[in-house]
Amino acid sequence: MSDSLTFNKYAGAVLATAFVIAGLVQLTGGVFSQEKVAKPGFKVEVAADTGGGAAVPDVPPDWGTVLKTADISAGQATFAKCQSCHNADSGGPNGTGPNLWGVVGRAPGSHAGFAYSDGMKAFAAKQPIWDYQHVYEFVKGPQAYINGTKMTFVGLKQPQDRINVIAFLRDHGGTLPIPAPNPAAAAAPTGAAPAAGLAPGKPGDKPAEAPKADAAKPAETPKADAAKPPAAIK
Ligand code: HEC
Repeated sequence: MSDSLTFNKYAGAVLATAFVIAGLVQLTGGVFSQEKVAKPGFKVEVAADTGGGAAVPDVPPDWGTVLKTADISAGQATFAKCQSCHNADSGGPNGTGPNLWGVVGRAPGSHAGFAYSDGMKAFAAKQPIWDYQHVYEFVKGPQAYINGTKMTFVGLKQPQDRINVIAFLRDHGGTLPIPAPNPAAAAAPTGAAPAAGLAPGKPGDKPAEAPKADAAKPAETPKADAAKPPAAIK
């Protein structure tokens, strides 16, 4: 008699323990599966956000691809940061900086009536035109890129901001055509010069990190694409 009572007590205890364990498993299971859903969305943004330091290398964009999906009106909004020094209208005045109408495709340091720095003149002696890639590098950090420039602007760290503002400038009298898309060049930035003379300006510019930024790109491009099909460039 007392034996079976004792047995019942133990059996009850075992059962109760089993319930508690089962409950815990379900609770933690719920927590973990929720976290799994939340994570992947963040990763891309973190990768795209590392442009803060001057040392972070940029993968040269494939201009034939990115200019077609660039957002000119976002570029215009970004140009507000340039406007205290630059006018971009046809025939517009020089300010603290030269008028930028047609700057994409014109010779560096060549706008009439503007007194360029010696640094810009030296750059102009090596670089015959402002192509997309050189504007892109310059605007990222002007004084780091051209020693002695008098463009005292901190720079646009985000690649997409620079791409959009370049699309805006191209839309303001730019004379360079959009090159044919060449995804292979963008995918292999460590190779020699990319097509169309878009040689990146700096020697110390392409370490092993490049593929990382590259991996983040393809995921983003189609998104921007789907968001605004009609805003592309003529
Ligand atoms: C604080 C004033 C200032 C701001 C802000 C500024 N710039 Fe400049 N920019 C200059 C000056 C000054 C020069 C001439 C540099 C030299 O002679 O060294 C210049 C030159 C340039 C040139 C070369 C022009 C040429 O004729 O060779 C480009 C391109 C340019 N700026 C683009 C931009 C863009 C794009 C922005 C905004 C993202 C911007 N700048 C913001 C002052 C500024």
